Amino acid sequence: MDYLQFFKLSIFGIKTILLKQKKPILGTIILTDACNLNCKHCSVNNLTKIIYPYKDIKEEMINMFNEGIRILFFCGGETLLWKDENKTIRDLVKEAKEIGYFIVNIVTNGTIDLDIPEADIIFLSIDGLKESHNLIRGNTFDTIMENVKKANKSNICVYTAVNKLNYKDIYELGKLVKNTKNLNSISFNFHTPYKNTKDLALSNEEKLYSINQIKQLIKENYPVFNLYSALDYYLKNNWSRPCFQCIVSENKKRFVCGRCVEEENLCDECGYLFAVEFSLLFKGNIKIIIDMLKTYKKYTGRINKD
Ligand SMILES: C[S@@+](CC[C@H](N)C(=O)[O-])C[C@H]1O[C@@H](n2cnc3c(N)ncnc32)[C@H](O)[C@@H]1O
Ligand code: SF4
Ligand code: SF4
Repeated sequence: MDYLQFFKLSIFGIKTILLKQKKPILGTIILTDACNLNCKHCSVNNLTKIIYPYKDIKEEMINMFNEGIRILFFCGGETLLWKDENKTIRDLVKEAKEIGYFIVNIVTNGTIDLDIPEADIIFLSIDGLKESHNLIRGNTFDTIMENVKKANKSNICVYTAVNKLNYKDIYELGKLVKNTKNLNSISFNFHTPYKNTKDLALSNEEKLYSINQIKQLIKENYPVFNLYSALDYYLKNNWSRPCFQCIVSENKKRFVCGRCVEEENLCDECGYLFAVEFSLLFKGNIKIIIDMLKTYKKYTGRINKD
């Protein structure tokens, strides 16, 4: 993202805050719900196993752009399983950039191949140190770390869903990220307890412990891609939701904020820190705005250094 694009996003933010607009700026397109894993905390894999057609995805990319969306995520199921009409995820990322998206990111479980230099950020799900990660995600840790080694651009941000099985790993995982070539940063979310995964939700004490660990990492200048000042809002659960600036599209259906919006009462227990951060940002929370600018500056500094 260049300075002009950053300026345009800032104007969008100012207009949203002042005019209390509900227009989205961040879109996620689900490419498939098929997945090669069956993680303990996940409720969205292999429901239909359909690989959505290229022409529908391209159409949605264009529609979303025309509606003003400028930050695009591709997600799944396992995002990198997607292929259609001789196109792969790399083609989709390139085409999204050609359409004009400022930022194009993907989320992946990292078991397939992480060499996608066209993506701005590859959010790579690693759910703890080897033992807890493998307990949650099957025996995949070593494969993922091999793929990280082979990637030839450091655009990878580790994406960790904190739950009962891995919350004690937060600090050590931060260290691992800092000391691993090609891992640029780490971003945490908390477990969001869908009906069939309630047993993985953290108690209040466990949440407090986890938040303090993340804060400690940030204070010690570890590359944490979360906003410090949003963490207490998550803990107190006093932020407004859903976040109207984010939309998700799956198989021609749109959802405000996330697919999870349709699960009864789930938003009350939301652990997705991006939703907390975006919601506070577009409500005009000054601390969050300053934190966002600082994090953006630090993050782009890191990318440029690589
Ligand atoms: C649904 S996965 C799709 C992309 C890819 N398969 C992956 O695992 O990264 C997207 C992200 O959602 C996270 N996730 C899944 N279920 C969750 C839950 N109940 N609470 C919080 N995060 C969750 C995963 O850990 C992953 O980081
Ligand atoms: S890899 Fe991603 S989509 Fe697949 S089961 Fe795990 S969290 Fe769900
Ligand atoms: S607030 Fe958004 S991300 Fe959180 S559970 Fe609700 S729809 Fe999902």
